[in-house]
Amino acid sequence: MPTLVELTDQHTSLSSDQVDHLVALVSEWGMLADFSFADLLLYVPVASDGGINWLTASQVRAATGQTLYQSDLVGEYADDTDRPFIAAAAQTGKIQQGEITLPYLADPVNMSAIPVVCDGKVIAVLTREVSKVTGRRLGQLERTYLSIFDDFATMISSGLFPFAGRVADSSVAPRVGDGVIVLDGSARVRYASPNAVSALHRVGIRANAVGQSLAELGFAHDAARASFERREPVVEELDQDHDVTLLVRSIPILKRGARAVNVIGGVVLMRDVSELRRRDRLILTKDATIKEIHHRVKNNLQTISSLLRLQGRRLSSDEAKAAVADSVRRIRTIALVHETLSREPGEDLAFIEIVRPLIQLTQESLQSSDRPMRFEVRGDAGRLPATIATPLSVVILELLQNVVDHAFGDSRRDGVVRVFLQRDSEDDALHIRVIDNGVGVNPEFDIAQATGLGLSIVRTLVTTELGGTIVMRQATAQDLSDAALEDGSHAAGGQPADGTSVNTVVGTVVDLRIPTDAAN
Ligand SMILES: Nc1ncnc2c1ncn2[C@@H]1O[C@H](COP(=O)(O)OP(=O)(O)O)[C@@H](O)[C@H]1O
Ligand SMILES: [Mg+2]
Repeated sequence: MPTLVELTDQHTSLSSDQVDHLVALVSEWGMLADFSFADLLLYVPVASDGGINWLTASQVRAATGQTLYQSDLVGEYADDTDRPFIAAAAQTGKIQQGEITLPYLADPVNMSAIPVVCDGKVIAVLTREVSKVTGRRLGQLERTYLSIFDDFATMISSGLFPFAGRVADSSVAPRVGDGVIVLDGSARVRYASPNAVSALHRVGIRANAVGQSLAELGFAHDAARASFERREPVVEELDQDHDVTLLVRSIPILKRGARAVNVIGGVVLMRDVSELRRRDRLILTKDATIKEIHHRVKNNLQTISSLLRLQGRRLSSDEAKAAVADSVRRIRTIALVHETLSREPGEDLAFIEIVRPLIQLTQESLQSSDRPMRFEVRGDAGRLPATIATPLSVVILELLQNVVDHAFGDSRRDGVVRVFLQRDSEDDALHIRVIDNGVGVNPEFDIAQATGLGLSIVRTLVTTELGGTIVMRQATAQDLSDAALEDGSHAAGGQPADGTSVNTVVGTVVDLRIPTDAAN
């Protein structure tokens, strides 16, 4: 179904300011429908050969009343019975009332056509349509609400409603059915709906509210005063006693006088959000607890890696020193994931935030006397749950460390290693390619047969923990140019750039494919 903005863009010549005015109106008009116990329709003018056609751009039903229209009317044009009222409202700029008969209803229908005025011009017409027969019996509540609707209708036709720049957050905004207090021009209570009285009881206010000011009642007077002074709605959350939280929205009712705009009254809508807030608080504390745990795990891992490092310094065998250094790096990698999780809400993280520190970790192991090496990251892996991010980080660390340790031998030329990340949403998989322009692995190399600890860890994590696949092979010229590693590849194997045959170009490619739904 087309939206209000799409319909007005396609069919009308309304300016973007005027469309914004209508969007703001529609975001608030659930309240108006509720006060009027009726269906509301918004008609916008569409130029046509025979004059102006009126297109239904939006529709709302009242939560407090019966609807006349089972079907959706958006996108349809006003018919002959509606059109005279709508056209008259647009022409005169005044609210029109009358009786119409609808082809599919036996009983006549009361219709009010309210011109929607923005910056002194009628830009649309809002209609209220309600059956003459099945309407609600008029008790005090009904009479009060209808008179409030009339006040808002007058505001709409004099450009005072909707309020500029004040779009209600409809997800939590209190609605009429939740409880209404009606105020007179001096902010005294004229009427409190039964639900409002109950809400007041829950916060311990048992006095009869009618005739009192909100200050005397000790309820929501700040919100009401602010809304009267600023002439716009004010939302306030009241944390009263008894663990009750009420969300209060005070809306002034304005009237254009001869010289100025006056506040002639107001409505205070309220909603009990205690349960919502209690859950919010619970989620917040749960989230904070999880973050705290990640923080502690990180600290513990850092302690372990420091202890290991101390131990490594006391070793005399180079092999043992290297083995301990490897372990320290692996532990720091896992700590990195927990550190990132301790900063972010939820149990997943943007993996790219891990890749960069991993590279840093590998770079630290490069001796300053080594030739320079360039690390590059391309693409993005999106967000990954900790269950994937942790083993994957260790895998990438091993691969990067191998490039540093083995790819360039003693050659003095510039090494480049590039990490490509690609998230494939179609088959729920993550592709990672680590490619270097070094000496390459032997053509018979098969990772399934590799016995080194590093590659054994990689193989185990990828195939069992992550349920993915891994291919590691010598890079071809194609891989290298795909990867745009041109800046060093021509010198691979110490060959001169010119006359280098494809066969002499080497380097290593590692391709990983990890299913990303594995965690679920
Ligand atoms: N990027 C690479 N370039 C060249 N050779 C590599 C590369 N990665 C791994 N290798 C080879 O695979 C072997 C096994 O690696 P690994 O299992 O990590 O053990 P280690 O790094 O301790 O030697 C390495 O010794 C090396 O010969
Ligand atoms: Mg290794």
